[in-house]
Amino acid sequence: MNSFTLKNNTFHVENIALTSIADEFNTPCYVYSKSALTQAFESFSAGFKDCDHLVCFAVKANPSLAILNLFAKLGAGFDIVSGGELARVLAAGGDPKKIVFSGVGKTEAEMQAALNADIFCFNVESASELQRLNDVASFMGKVAPISLRVNPNVDAKTHPYISTGLKNNKFGVAYEDALDIYLQAAKMSNIAIHGVDCHIGSQITELSPFLDAFDRVLALVDALAENGIVIQHIDAGGGIGICYSDETPPEFTVFATAMRAKLGSRNVKLVFEPGRALVGNAGVLLTKVEYLKHTESKNFAIVDAAMNDLMRPALYDAYHDIKAVQPRQDDTEALTYEIVGPVCESGDFLGHDRTLALVEGDILAIMSAGAYGMSMSSNYNTRPRAAEVMVDGDQCHLIRKREQIADLFALEQCLP
Ligand code: LLP
Repeated sequence: MNSFTLKNNTFHVENIALTSIADEFNTPCYVYSKSALTQAFESFSAGFKDCDHLVCFAVKANPSLAILNLFAKLGAGFDIVSGGELARVLAAGGDPKKIVFSGVGKTEAEMQAALNADIFCFNVESASELQRLNDVASFMGKVAPISLRVNPNVDAKTHPYISTGLKNNKFGVAYEDALDIYLQAAKMSNIAIHGVDCHIGSQITELSPFLDAFDRVLALVDALAENGIVIQHIDAGGGIGICYSDETPPEFTVFATAMRAKLGSRNVKLVFEPGRALVGNAGVLLTKVEYLKHTESKNFAIVDAAMNDLMRPALYDAYHDIKAVQPRQDDTEALTYEIVGPVCESGDFLGHDRTLALVEGDILAIMSAGAYGMSMSSNYNTRPRAAEVMVDGDQCHLIRKREQIADLFALEQCLP
């Protein structure tokens, strides 16, 4: 079922017309579908239903409290990378015993907060971090559950900015060093070895990099067992891609079947950290055409959303489909447009060369904006962040108010 459909020549999210959302909440505005979110979570989990597993939503993809709360109610765990994300998950009712804490730069304060919350596991990314975690836990009289994030040195075949499993990335420990570091960890009094972790990148659209990385992780798990270290869970990270235009990422069921076949009869829990795959196609960014500007070489549609609202096109040259919410059926000529925002940068575009029949005031939907959209937004050009709404059938809920301009400098002051 697709939650974003054209009915009576108007795009709807579930049963609500996107035009009515733009009227009520104004633009730019992120709109999420509760049923699309639910369906994505449930179909990801379904592949692992009769084996011990935990799906930890990667909070960075979309940290909205309402989304975290929805996933928590569905039984999700969470992958966090900061004390801020920990606080969000707890505020949203997430179960701390289902939290994994990733990231290369955990501070002492973040370690303390996570130990106090009694999280499921720390994904440790270096020997120094391991030592620090042992010290912090010892000071607190606690034992920290850990996995080492190993870097399997496989090519995820994705954009270089979001590939993380190659030797030259800052993430994880080198595969060759992992056994030694585990042996050191085994001697630390305030560390308990629970798992092995690996995450090779994001927007991965082929199955083979996942399987190659998993093979290496399984070989390490077996080598650890030979050294008397029994692993209780394997965290295979996130990274499954979504379709933005014509990509064909692995289906969840195919992914699950292949991973389970590799796991064989080993008695370990499987942990995953999907982000984009659960939220990416469950959200759109609504924006209004402010001006049409025709120059000698290009036609520009200047819209009220910008790179500060959705940074992916500017940062990665990422493609997002752009649809007119009410495709024109009059004689307006379809032209090839640059869809650009009002920010003072030439890189401020949302789409190149889009053929659309537009009139000023039209509402556009930037598709597949549920992941790394709002979460990477900023206040550049002193632009208030967009409102966010979630549609549930024929109900529409405001889940984040639009920022007010005064909010943007409320923490600042001039010299006396
Ligand atoms: N686990 C770890 C340790 C991660 O670093 C990430 C993403 C994930 C899980 C979730 O990956 P996903 O399932 O969403 O692919 N801003 C970029 C994506 C950066 C991904 C960073 N790490 C983008 O907009 O494409």
